[in-house]
Amino acid sequence: MNLKKQSIVIAGGGSTFTPGIIMMLLENLDRFPIRQIKFYDNDAERQKQIADAAEIILKERAPEIEFLSTTDPEEAFTDVDFVMAHIRVGKYAMREIDEKIPLKYDVIGQETCGPGGVSYGMRSIGGVLGIIDYMEKYSPDAWMLNYSNPAAIVAEATRKLRPNSKIINICDMPVGIEHRMVEILGMKSRKELSIRYYGLNHFGWWTDIRDQDGNDLLPKLREHVSKHGYLTPKELEGTANETVEKSWEHTFGKAKEVFALDPLTMPNTYLKYYLFPQDEVALADPNHTRANEVMEHREKLVFDECNRISQIGTAKNTDLAADEHASYIVDLARAIAYNTKERMLLIVPNNGAIVNFDPTAMVEIPCIVGSQGPEPLVQGEIPRFQKGLMEQQVAVEKLVVEAWDEGSYQKLWQAITLSRTVPNARVAKEILDDLIVANKDFWPTLS
Ligand code: NAD
Ligand code: G6P
Ligand code: MN
Repeated sequence: MNLKKQSIVIAGGGSTFTPGIIMMLLENLDRFPIRQIKFYDNDAERQKQIADAAEIILKERAPEIEFLSTTDPEEAFTDVDFVMAHIRVGKYAMREIDEKIPLKYDVIGQETCGPGGVSYGMRSIGGVLGIIDYMEKYSPDAWMLNYSNPAAIVAEATRKLRPNSKIINICDMPVGIEHRMVEILGMKSRKELSIRYYGLNHFGWWTDIRDQDGNDLLPKLREHVSKHGYLTPKELEGTANETVEKSWEHTFGKAKEVFALDPLTMPNTYLKYYLFPQDEVALADPNHTRANEVMEHREKLVFDECNRISQIGTAKNTDLAADEHASYIVDLARAIAYNTKERMLLIVPNNGAIVNFDPTAMVEIPCIVGSQGPEPLVQGEIPRFQKGLMEQQVAVEKLVVEAWDEGSYQKLWQAITLSRTVPNARVAKEILDDLIVANKDFWPTLS
């Protein structure tokens, strides 16, 4: 088949995930041919380090692809079919602050959950809306595939403030967990699974998992997850090829306790922050959080390797590898570009898909994706336990967007108070007042 070649811009070109995505795109050129890749970032110096290496990689492995790296929106967003967006407004310096301020008050400090996620959301909304506006100005037919976090809040902001824009929000956590399920089940690929799932982003449950013949795989998964969470047999034996970092290992193990609350379903790992917040606080080091780990490991490794490639002028011996999980981005882009009708988990307006839940909520559910975008699949009625949790959490997310839009201190205080991770309104106010000071260069003025 002769597939039309695509032009893409990666917004957040300086991201630690950009090299993995480039390698992944290169591995998938037969399914998703590309004529042009552009990088866009608002930090020229950071982006240049990744772009110089990417240019060498592309010259060596796919010289036919045109490459451009820029901080000029017009150059970046003109003549593109897809915007792949992974920006982090405020970068790791602000992630660190998001994580450390709540911990001062014995509240979890996390990138997307609790007050840290609210803080990040208040920065991200403007950044992501800005990217949509550039896309619509310079390439009105393009689609934006957004995985900039906090995806739940960003998705609600795009629903409310850019209702007609061609944007799809997506997360890799369910993909990562399904990779683990497949290992636990002794199967090869997550594409062999046929699943039902519902929830909010970083806040959801699998309700049905089958193989292609319709055999129910939940009993076998239950047996494993009730004992070991999502730790794989190889990890448990100590024979895994790749080792996960300690903090992620804890998360995958903790899924055992999250699972126990509703053994009929399989939980998303992020629920641990809402269901066991005190356990997470007890484990955390308030002076050294996940942001510090990432800066010391992933960020350092990626930038050191990119700088090494640029210095020696070749990437022939690089250990930069395709981010395997990231191939869902190609699946999504392909579905739109070539109308593949693939079934994927996406963050979309509920609109009745979860029958007994707010139709205006942004929910994470399976959708069929074609050239007109996602068609959500009805997941039916959900039980009281999940519904109660989701109603509280979606109110947090909606209040953050309203607070950003209206400049409302009151609504942001209500949002933080409503988070299950926060013990009371006084603590919510103390955290909020610290966050306002820390975010003075990023948040709208609140009154
Ligand atoms: P990073 O800080 O390494 O990269 C983000 C880049 O965005 C930086 O180079 C920064 O300069 C740039 N940036 C910030 N504001 C910008 C703006 N307004 N316009 C253009 N560029 C801007 O961060 P990272 O750890 O590589 O993560 C990148 C993003 O991807 C984060 O939002 C992260 O949470 C998200 N992410 C999401 C998923 C998911 O499941 N949805 C998975 C992994 C990462
Ligand atoms: C998962 C989530 C992402 C999140 C990432 C954090 O992939 O789905 O939304 O950004 O984890 O990873 P990090 O290594 O930056 O803590
Ligand atoms: Mn995610």
